Amino acid sequence: MISSLRGMNDILSEDYERFTYFINTATKIAGRYGFHFIETPLLEETSLFKRSVGESSDIVGKEMYQFIDKGDNDVCLRPEGTAGVVRAFIQKKLDRAGGIHRFFYHGAMFRYERPQKGRLRQFHQFGVESFGVESVYEDAAMIMMVSDILETLGIGYRLQLNSLGCKECMPPYRNKLVKFVKECEEGICEDCIRRVDTNPIRVLDCKNGSCQELYVGAPKLLHHLCESCESDFNTLKKILNDNKIEYEINTNLVRGLDYYSKTAFEFVSDDIGSQSAIAGGGRYDRLVEFLDGRPTPAVGFAMGIERLMELIKMPQAAKKGYYMGAMDDECVDTVVQIAHKKRKTDTVIIDYKSKNLKNHLKAADKAGVKYCAVIGSNEMKDKTIWIKNLEDKTENTIPIMEF
Ligand code: HAM
Repeated sequence: MISSLRGMNDILSEDYERFTYFINTATKIAGRYGFHFIETPLLEETSLFKRSVGESSDIVGKEMYQFIDKGDNDVCLRPEGTAGVVRAFIQKKLDRAGGIHRFFYHGAMFRYERPQKGRLRQFHQFGVESFGVESVYEDAAMIMMVSDILETLGIGYRLQLNSLGCKECMPPYRNKLVKFVKECEEGICEDCIRRVDTNPIRVLDCKNGSCQELYVGAPKLLHHLCESCESDFNTLKKILNDNKIEYEINTNLVRGLDYYSKTAFEFVSDDIGSQSAIAGGGRYDRLVEFLDGRPTPAVGFAMGIERLMELIKMPQAAKKGYYMGAMDDECVDTVVQIAHKKRKTDTVIIDYKSKNLKNHLKAADKAGVKYCAVIGSNEMKDKTIWIKNLEDKTENTIPIMEF
């Protein structure tokens, strides 16, 4: 038997209902914030992710589904959605057009991670990207949008917030941090030794307990922000306070992707185990420029759909549609003809095998429909159909014409 690859799942039946319920809810809410759908390819040039997500990130360094295609191109399955959207934004010359452009997307992402509960190799994200707005009010709008989506789905969360500074305040802070880490280099893990040279701030979210103990006294970026970053961060906190959105400041929240500056945030759930991040995002004002576009401020987020599916409280679905069946073999054709017409407006599930009423009712119950409609030889003679409403249990025989 051939099974799906490790960390890659099928989505069907009840899971699919949750999946589409999530997409529909998030799409509706993104629309209310003025975002429009964008679809980008699953496969992109590898250099796109190297230049955006960053060569020093785990995603690019260890987790890419990368290969050389038949035309000798170095390509890879997208590990995240932002880079592709930025590429499309520049390719369509929207950076040159100026103005504000807001997109949302959803689809499969691929990361060759070690699979575990909540961590897949093929997973799905719902994300949004906003281009052209410098104001920190847009950062707040991103957070409010995630909060709206989670509230609508009945999902509780903790919001973690940080600022990663800008090209003015980050470099002097980075130097200070490198100096600090080098002083305690003896005790830190190999990953951190590598990070000091490639992307020092990533040491701050090292999962190794003994590294974390050493970094307790490390300088905090929030204490080294320039005036403009500090003022934006204070405004963001005020907007969230005014809108009753609770948050925790996490000075170690650096995110696993290199393109962020200023606002960084993560929504976590305490109800799904160790892979607790359900959404993450932030501002990335320099990425458009890094990818050869005109400098354009940008901010966005992405939500992990599989992690959210475990938490969604589904509304009680109202029963709908018909189950139709024949009680005698010679009625099957008539049932199929009537069902064909009825399907212009309703869901109809047909059983092509004739059987007695009790068995039809059992099958209709199993199908989860609202009505069971059957035709036997008596009904055929009278040109009628017998219908039972499976919710209020009323039964009726009506002319086929009225059905
Ligand atoms: P990210 O934090 O890497 O951000 O991913 C966003 C979310 O995707 C995570 O919070 C998590 O719920 C889900 N996720 C990530 N990896 C996995 C996995 N292996 N299995 C299951 N779920 C996973 C980004 O991808 C950025 N592009 C977000 C962004 C958009 N920033 C600005 N705009």
